[in-house]
Amino acid sequence: MSIPVIMDCDPGHDDAIALVLAVASPELELLAVTTSAGNQTIEKTTLNARKVLSFLGSKVPVARGAPRPLFRDLIIAPQVHGESGLDGPALPEPTLPESPLSAVELMAKVLRESDRKVTLVPTAALTNVATLLMTHPELKEKIERICLMGGSAVGGNWTAAAEFNILVDPEAAHIVFNAGLPVVMCGLDVTHKALVTRADVERFRSIRKRTAIMVAELLDFFKKFHEAQFDFAGSPLHDPCPIAFLVDPTLFTWKKAHVDVECRGRHSIGATVVDYKGGQGREMNVDVVLGIDRLRFIDLIDAALRRLD
Ligand code: RIB
Ligand code: CA
Repeated sequence: MSIPVIMDCDPGHDDAIALVLAVASPELELLAVTTSAGNQTIEKTTLNARKVLSFLGSKVPVARGAPRPLFRDLIIAPQVHGESGLDGPALPEPTLPESPLSAVELMAKVLRESDRKVTLVPTAALTNVATLLMTHPELKEKIERICLMGGSAVGGNWTAAAEFNILVDPEAAHIVFNAGLPVVMCGLDVTHKALVTRADVERFRSIRKRTAIMVAELLDFFKKFHEAQFDFAGSPLHDPCPIAFLVDPTLFTWKKAHVDVECRGRHSIGATVVDYKGGQGREMNVDVVLGIDRLRFIDLIDAALRRLD
């Protein structure tokens, strides 16, 4: 039986590839997509989500999320994702409409109407998910778990301590990690190992199907930032990790921990504080994903691309 999921994302190159993987995976049933501000403004990430899903021929409802974090000014990342938030491939204007509902309203409606528990997959700042949990606490029982991209056990990518998605809205992340729901944290510990190399990109392009070519063009742009800034052997495919985790958890290794979020530290704001011992009765609320079989992960994406046009 497929896993019902709602994705909350800020496309964003790696978000876009996560959407492709979700749409192409029969193990998942994508019930809704909601958008977050982060990689770009909410106008741009919403347009990008609609463009990618239209390109894929998906009819999933798409709803716009909050324009800014709960208490802070928005941080965006044009240096990584370009001015459009999805620079690279020339995607046509979307045919998929934007829902008249807000992101929180759409998530609440889908949860309420589902006869099965739903897994939330946030791959952006946690503003919408935190707002959902605060405004509809009765719907927590309809959430199977939260399988997210964000945080890290060791070190950040936007500051020395913080990963981008958590840094954008630390208070929202604090609410989500303390909601009493099971969380799977695909942070930088694993996503910096989920590398796509130049050779992998050429392998995708050689599939010669329109979606595979579009993904290769996304990665052509995405690699510019990572090759200039980091000493990686490729680009980290952050956001496809939680989708791949749901499709095939045997690709990954993880460890239980208590995780909380630093909301105040001058140098450490946005850090996820990971405690593997869970002393003093602290709940081991999070599966911290640490390892990945990179070659099988790339095979999974390759197989997904071959199933699409
Ligand atoms: O730190 C990686 C995260 O930030 C990913 O979700 C990516 O899309 C970027 O915005
Ligand atoms: Ca993202």
